[in-house]
Amino acid sequence: MPAVPSRAIRFHRTGEPLAVLQEERIEIPDPPKNRVRVRVLATGLNPADWELCRGFLPGALPRGIGYDVAGIIDAVGDIDAAGVIDAAGVIDVVGDIDAAREEEASDSGGDAGQPASSRTERAGVGNRGGHAGTRNETAGVGAVVFGTADFIEQPSAGAADVALLNNWYRVPAGLDPVQAAALPMVVQTAAWTLETMRVEPGATLLVHGAGGMVGYAAVQIALRLGARVVATAGPTFAADLEQLGARVTPYGRGMPDRVRALTGGEDVDLVLDTPRPSPGTMPDLIALAGGDPRRVMTISNHEEARRLGARVNLDELRPGLTPPAKLLPEYASLAAEGAFHLPIARAYPLEQWRDAVALSLSGNPHGKVMLVPGREAAA
Ligand SMILES: NC(=O)c1ccc[n+]([C@@H]2O[C@H](COP(=O)([O-])OP(=O)(O)OC[C@H]3O[C@@H](n4cnc5c(N)ncnc54)[C@H](OP(=O)(O)O)[C@@H]3O)[C@@H](O)[C@H]2O)c1
Repeated sequence: MPAVPSRAIRFHRTGEPLAVLQEERIEIPDPPKNRVRVRVLATGLNPADWELCRGFLPGALPRGIGYDVAGIIDAVGDIDAAGVIDAAGVIDVVGDIDAAREEEASDSGGDAGQPASSRTERAGVGNRGGHAGTRNETAGVGAVVFGTADFIEQPSAGAADVALLNNWYRVPAGLDPVQAAALPMVVQTAAWTLETMRVEPGATLLVHGAGGMVGYAAVQIALRLGARVVATAGPTFAADLEQLGARVTPYGRGMPDRVRALTGGEDVDLVLDTPRPSPGTMPDLIALAGGDPRRVMTISNHEEARRLGARVNLDELRPGLTPPAKLLPEYASLAAEGAFHLPIARAYPLEQWRDAVALSLSGNPHGKVMLVPGREAAA
């Protein structure tokens, strides 16, 4: 099958996302080995996309944005059963982006200036062996699937009409592809991080920043694990999170006292810190965990956590965690049954990608920001 034409949102130089991203007409080639090509139905945007634009994990340009994708398969590459992707490698990439940004911000002489090869090796990019499960190889041309686009090593990713996926699973009956495309990044991050924290049934877990999508997913996953969940969130999702079974209070000034009011004055057993980088809260989170920094895990405030002895998820993620081949179909099935949910802030036609980027960059999108290339812009 020949290459197919596609619009794609991508960047040829690094910088602020709205300054460097552009919409282009390109050709998407036949899928190489261990890839499928899809007609994109929906793409989820993530904070990691903006860090790639800003130049972290540098590599060959141009590059695309959009890691989370749902679409209809139009071509299948040669599938090599051994060619499974390393799940921990995928998540390490995202964490490494945050870490690199903080390193630069603190000008601490970290490795942000190292060559791409060195940084990507540490991040695990390109580690194609190992533990992760196989893809859904029964999903052939015409199947509606969701999964991930390699947004590190390809000249375009999911923000396009056509995309190449390196992991894909069928969208179960009853699940809107937009909902399916919202899942991969946040479900993988939340599930693997809670697994690393060893959240036990009956443990009290504070999820700080549960109005963010990783936190929102973590609340649901922790409740399924049998934890008692206290969450901080703004007003947009406070009632939803309470309905799911969490006890919720606003983040910001006075947060520790409000959390203790919900726990009857008790410390919590574990804390998961999930907002976008927000220096200054780590001491409060450690105090809420009985003063024990090892009971606090962050996904974004890396340098502050390391300095205070708290845990950083990407420092501890190792092969052996639940592979995406199990995780993503499981959560897609739960979503289809209405037993797992991620709120969509807004789904934009591809031509309105600038508005989508701006909403995510605001830092307060209040839900997943999605692109839906097949949909026409409102007149
Ligand atoms: N290390 C990893 O493995 C990994 C993986 C994925 C993502 N990440 C990082 O995790 C962070 C969160 O990602 P995400 O996709 O969940 O982000 P997101 O959905 O875009 O989070 C934004 C939401 O966070 C809430 N928020 C804003 N300021 C806050 C504050 N100061 N304290 C608490 N909550 C606040 C707001 O919701 P409300 O006001 O409605 O509560 C806002 O809508 C990002 O920095 C991302 O890069 C790391």
